Amino acid sequence: MKVLVVGSGGREHALCWKLHQSPSVTQVLCAPGNPGIASVARCLAIAAEDIPTLLQCAQSEQVDLVVVGPEVPLVMGLADQLRSAGFAVFGPDQAAAELEGSKAFSKQIMQEAGVPTAAFEVHHNADEAEALIRRWGAPIVVKASGLAAGKGVVVAEDVETAVAAARDMLSGNSFGSAGAEVVIEACLRGEEASCLFIVSGDTIVPLASSQDHKALNEGDRGPNTGGMGAYSPAPCVTPAIADGVLEQIVRPVIATLKQRGIHFIGTLYAGIMLCDDGPKTLEFNVRFGDPECQPLMMRLQSDLGTVLLAAAQGTLEDVPLQWSDESAICVVVASRGYPAAFNKGESIKGLSDIEAQGATVFHAGTAMKDGQLVNNGGRVLGVTASAPDLAAARETVYQALSALRWQGAYYRRDIAHRALT
Ligand code: AMP
Ligand code: GLY
Repeated sequence: MKVLVVGSGGREHALCWKLHQSPSVTQVLCAPGNPGIASVARCLAIAAEDIPTLLQCAQSEQVDLVVVGPEVPLVMGLADQLRSAGFAVFGPDQAAAELEGSKAFSKQIMQEAGVPTAAFEVHHNADEAEALIRRWGAPIVVKASGLAAGKGVVVAEDVETAVAAARDMLSGNSFGSAGAEVVIEACLRGEEASCLFIVSGDTIVPLASSQDHKALNEGDRGPNTGGMGAYSPAPCVTPAIADGVLEQIVRPVIATLKQRGIHFIGTLYAGIMLCDDGPKTLEFNVRFGDPECQPLMMRLQSDLGTVLLAAAQGTLEDVPLQWSDESAICVVVASRGYPAAFNKGESIKGLSDIEAQGATVFHAGTAMKDGQLVNNGGRVLGVTASAPDLAAARETVYQALSALRWQGAYYRRDIAHRALT
């Protein structure tokens, strides 16, 4: 089959890499892709949000399956339009994508489904938000309800920080219209895990466990980012916890959506806090995690093309996927300065030396300029490796990274520390 992947990040590189290896897949196209993706897929210069041109492309290329990587086109309704035109699509419709597109909607669904999650209120007015924050006290969490590329959450240790964050969001300063509605939540403590599921109607197939590091700096400090590294499996997600997340969180949410006439096809990503009194839901995403997807694809042994097509066509069997027993880890290399301002266009060299040492380099924010590979985004590379155990996989990645030649590179040196101590 011929598959079109939409997106241009490390997640999409990992998906294209795996689809390229799938026996069921004869051709992989990617829109728009990136220089790394170009080695495993034919890249088409169409933006991931350009719905009319993507639709035309799916038609002219006569693709058999479209896999939508990022959340923005899903929230814009790309999957709805492709499905209306008769295509098999892996990725939820707009109504289901609201689970990620609106944190307020997501919390309402969780409440209706009786799913464990932090106590919350939704606010549109800064004075009312401030009054609630003062009443509840710190620590407290303030979230822009709309999409903010993983950066719209402030975990405030004091009341003044929370009030300032809520006012900034509600005034439109920090996240534009995504901040016009805020969710204010009780602060949960515990270890975080990413629990991903492939969902097709009533069929829900868990993926292997994984964990990412959202904070910019070592020791999980500093501002939240899209994710600075990830690994799979996550030892803290025991089989009992994984089962609890499926039965007490994901099934009730899918059933609640169904009662509203919303049918979910795609990846449902539950961000979970493992609290002393059990797992609680932090958020839902409606796509593979980035960078969680990179180690997951490295461990997946099933034919990804077959799985995603079956999900898209409603024939996904309720059977587990096959995973390698090895551990895999991805360390994200970012542009120094990210998630704030950073330079672009800096030369990146040494990637073949990194790969010669047994790691795979998934590209995210890279571009070609005058025949040279340069950085063009915040998160730039995802250096990924697998090995019989996590410590060995981590050793491979960090050893290999010593071959990177890019002045402006920043990466954390402690990815997977929680799993290894
Ligand atoms: P979200 O995008 O909602 O998952 O939030 C991003 C990150 O903020 C999460 O991965 C957590 O690290 C943190 N976070 C979100 N909600 C809470 C909460 N209620 N309590 C503590 N930390 C949270
Ligand atoms: N790594 C977190 C996310 O994809 O949202």
